[in-house]
Amino acid sequence: MAAGRRIYIIGFMGSGKSTTGKKLAATLGWQFLDLDKVIELEAGQPIKDIFSTSGEDHFRDIESEILLNLKTNNDTVISAGGGTPCHGSNMDFMIRTGLVVYLKMTPAQLKSRLKSPSAARPLINNVSGTELLKYISDKLSEREKYYRRAPIIINGINLDIKTLSGKIKIMLKE
Ligand code: S3P
Repeated sequence: MAAGRRIYIIGFMGSGKSTTGKKLAATLGWQFLDLDKVIELEAGQPIKDIFSTSGEDHFRDIESEILLNLKTNNDTVISAGGGTPCHGSNMDFMIRTGLVVYLKMTPAQLKSRLKSPSAARPLINNVSGTELLKYISDKLSEREKYYRRAPIIINGINLDIKTLSGKIKIMLKE
């Protein structure tokens, strides 16, 4: 079977990539894949354990390897991890193999969505308050040059799935 079309959802931790990806997939009638979940499944370990036992560099190697070898037979919406586009040739690969959507939010908006700790986000597990805001601002300014290469950039707050799927349908026809 020929490989299906792909939409990649990218953006900072907490920008709603998985929630939006699932809704978008349902609206388009496509499949949905969460890259973090595929990594946990293939590595046989939760993300926090990969970070704590083998370190971030090893996580990035696994993340790239899994992304670059992902098999999707049907049309699929894929939510990436926050750091996925910023390592190796991942962003080039996503642009080449699908339509990339960046869910944009400000550091303050992200901070209010990242207040409660998540096991899947070891990078910010022990960071809070003004330290968290500074971490997000610094990291986002490092990462935005990658994120901004996405052909679709959309405000992640109050996102209307119909508006997004409309934009996507136009781009897919072009
Ligand atoms: C990361 C984001 C996480 C996960 C890992 C690293 C990052 O995914 O891939 O903890 O570097 O921003 P989410 O963006 O889905 O939280």
